[in-house]
Amino acid sequence: MSMTETPEGPRKTVYIETYGCQMNVSDSELMYGSLAAHGYTPVEAPDGADVILVNTCAIRENAETRVIGRLGELKRFMKADTIVGVTGCMAQRLGPRLLDQAKHVSLVVGPDGYRSLPQLLDGARSGERFSATDFDLEEHYEDVVARRFEGVKAWIPVQRGCNYRCTYCIVPYTRGAERSRKLDDVVRETHDVVAQGLSEIVLLGQTVNSYNDGTHDFADLLRAVAAVDGIRRVRYTSPHPNDFSDRVIAAMAEVPEVCEHVHLPMQSGSTSMLKRMLRRYSREDYLASVERLRNAIPGLALTTDIIVGFPGETDAEFEDTLSLCREVRFNDAFMFKFSMREGTPAERMPAEWTVPDAVVTERFDRLLATVRGISRENNMTRLGARVEVLVEKVARDGTLLQARSRDFKTVMVPAESAKIGDYLTVELTGTTGATFTGTPVRDRAPLPMASPMASPMVSTTA
Ligand code: 5AD
Ligand code: SF4
Repeated sequence: MSMTETPEGPRKTVYIETYGCQMNVSDSELMYGSLAAHGYTPVEAPDGADVILVNTCAIRENAETRVIGRLGELKRFMKADTIVGVTGCMAQRLGPRLLDQAKHVSLVVGPDGYRSLPQLLDGARSGERFSATDFDLEEHYEDVVARRFEGVKAWIPVQRGCNYRCTYCIVPYTRGAERSRKLDDVVRETHDVVAQGLSEIVLLGQTVNSYNDGTHDFADLLRAVAAVDGIRRVRYTSPHPNDFSDRVIAAMAEVPEVCEHVHLPMQSGSTSMLKRMLRRYSREDYLASVERLRNAIPGLALTTDIIVGFPGETDAEFEDTLSLCREVRFNDAFMFKFSMREGTPAERMPAEWTVPDAVVTERFDRLLATVRGISRENNMTRLGARVEVLVEKVARDGTLLQARSRDFKTVMVPAESAKIGDYLTVELTGTTGATFTGTPVRDRAPLPMASPMASPMVSTTA
């Protein structure tokens, strides 16, 4: 009997294509794990797969437009009995509407419904079509063993859902209310990933630093996972600026495994705009959070998210965003043009507040130039520094290796100097402005474990 045979016949194959954030990447790993436990074999391409799942994002309209296009394209990979399902945030948002829109889709399953996937797939095989979008506030998939394909770091979900109500954001509606996993469960999973040969973890949650399992807060969690033998780097994403308690900042400062990088979504630098966005902090509050973090953690790198063109954005408000970028001097930023999402509070704002496309584009370009300029200047000052990097993968050009510093810089290193999963000390010898080249300065640091396989099976297109 071959690897893909069972007593009942050949194992069915499943391909999952992932869009959106790390939470979706992590959910895809859970779905692969759950389906593998039910007799499915993960495959790396949709061609001829028995099951094709598209794990979707709903955060901006263009994320959804891409998925609709991709669903059409996937038809050509389908055999007569292939089942196509849509999962994730867009599935949750559109539910049965997706079944009407795409006749070759048999299943639509939201983020809390993945437990029933094997049964739903059986039903689909007998010709049924389902939409499963109930929230389940108890659901953490504790009994599912994630199938990880990322080579050197593990995404570990610690919290699902979101209790904030930022007026632009669809996430509270697609992922429901906030709930935290038990600390012991997260620690158990951390032991498991070390046993798989990984030494870096990234704790995931929509507002991850508000983590609270009823007994433990995020500070306890950081300390507990960092204490697991074999863990060398701990990261987390994304925190909310209001949830940095003194305890959390102290844990970051005191625990050596916690990396010196915070992705701190700012969204806007204008207090009046932040109010309309219901971010619950002012420009000054945001700056105060930055200062507390920087005072506690030497060498801290900060990255952020910024939205341009939210309803009612005036020139002065936009200038405040530019000036806050100059003041904070972010290492990098993800910048987005505002996209109106159905059902969010922003939809009920007066139509005359809509910022014209041409204005949004002009502002976006100015913001991009500002952020990139600051990032380049920051990076130039780092040349000559010695940093520890973890080699993550073969770089896109196919000849260099791509590595990452503790403060989240991308560093290209020569292929012969290391292998994937190695930690190296390098001198930063060059920069494109955005990424660095590094030259190893001494022998490889010893690895806590043998280096793991590197075959990214989950395609991410955030
Ligand atoms: N339009 C544009 N960007 C958005 N984001 C969230 N909702 C929207 C929207 N409707 C951005 C925010 C968030 C990031 C993940 O996506 O900046 O932090
Ligand atoms: Fe992730 Fe938000 Fe997109 Fe859902 S809508 S996949 S939570 S970014």
